[in-house]
Amino acid sequence: MQTDIILKVENLSAGFTVDKKEITITKGVSFEVHRGKTLAIVGESGCGKSVTVHSVMQLLPRNGKIVSGKATYFKDGKAYELSSMERYGKELRAIRGAEIGMVFQDPMSSLNPVYTVGAQVSANLIEHFKMSKKEARPKVVEMFGKLGIPDPERRFDQYPHEFSGGMKQRVMIAIAMICNPQLIIADEPTTALDVTIQAQIIDLMKSLQVEYGKSIILITHNMGLVAEMADDVAVMYMGRVVEYGSVEDIFHNPTHPYTAALLRSVPQLGMDRTKDLDTIRGMTPNPSELGEGCEFAGRCDFCTESCKKGLMPYNDIGGGHMVRCIRTEGVDGNE
Ligand SMILES: Nc1ncnc2c1ncn2[C@@H]1O[C@H](COP(=O)(O)OP(=O)(O)OP(=O)(O)O)[C@@H](O)[C@H]1O
Ligand code: SF4
Ligand SMILES: [Mg+2]
Repeated sequence: MQTDIILKVENLSAGFTVDKKEITITKGVSFEVHRGKTLAIVGESGCGKSVTVHSVMQLLPRNGKIVSGKATYFKDGKAYELSSMERYGKELRAIRGAEIGMVFQDPMSSLNPVYTVGAQVSANLIEHFKMSKKEARPKVVEMFGKLGIPDPERRFDQYPHEFSGGMKQRVMIAIAMICNPQLIIADEPTTALDVTIQAQIIDLMKSLQVEYGKSIILITHNMGLVAEMADDVAVMYMGRVVEYGSVEDIFHNPTHPYTAALLRSVPQLGMDRTKDLDTIRGMTPNPSELGEGCEFAGRCDFCTESCKKGLMPYNDIGGGHMVRCIRTEGVDGNE
């Protein structure tokens, strides 16, 4: 793995208070994002992908909090511990938007219907670079043009309801990009879009990476997209990273039974279409009802009695390819 790290997340756990009860959702999440590279976070709905990145940015709702662990951002040889900064404080606000840009999961509800799209993108320049509205306008119009929004000068003054889904997503990317952040977190940036628009947004993100050397955290359900864009992959299940490694490790040597099942449930070119795709049997358990042992035990074909006790080992099976499964015990790729 590369050594130039822009973001390091170590043992990060976060949770919520619901009906006066504290529930831990993400548990001991660790990963690194390398400069100019893409880390993909994958896993079934509800496994904690959004909670993970929201806790890194301290953007959890009021009933949520980081329970333990840390997230550190690196810039010019200095380390900034995001998780110890005051949640709504100046220091963290300076990093959010200006250093780390976030494309939220749902563009439809993330844009404010009462402000023009131009005003919403300008707000970041006004806050972070102390620009006037007049100074911000040409920068935003230029960014709209770069992102393929036609007639950007006129579109600046329109409201979100006048934009299609794909165009709204471009506005969300403009908000994330306008202050030239080094790291972009894109939470399912294409899920709400139709296939042709998805392809355009992905091409756009790839070109931003190639031209400007941005680092990206890409959250997606689309394994084809992961294969196309990612350098490293973190596979999450029930709030834990169960497998982590390079894109080659994950696709050529998927080792956690969940990762293997996830990949078997994706259609492949040339596949016999008369046969059903594999599905992962059962449902994800309710986080508040989880018992001891491996979280995947109830759905795993390799489950033994030993899987139902304690915390499963998290082993490096070679070159930083990490797997959380009892079957890798005694398999240490670094020895
Ligand atoms: N505000 C909240 N209060 C209580 N629980 C929450 C809250 N937000 C999320 N959760 C719980 O945290 C878990 C993880 O949610 P998260 O949104 O991170 O999933 P995800 O992996 O991003 O799923 P998806 O792919 O559907 O976006 C879910 O079980 C969810 O119910
Ligand atoms: S620890 Fe056991 S139940 Fe969990 S994934 Fe590995 S084999 Fe399956
Ligand atoms: Mg999500």
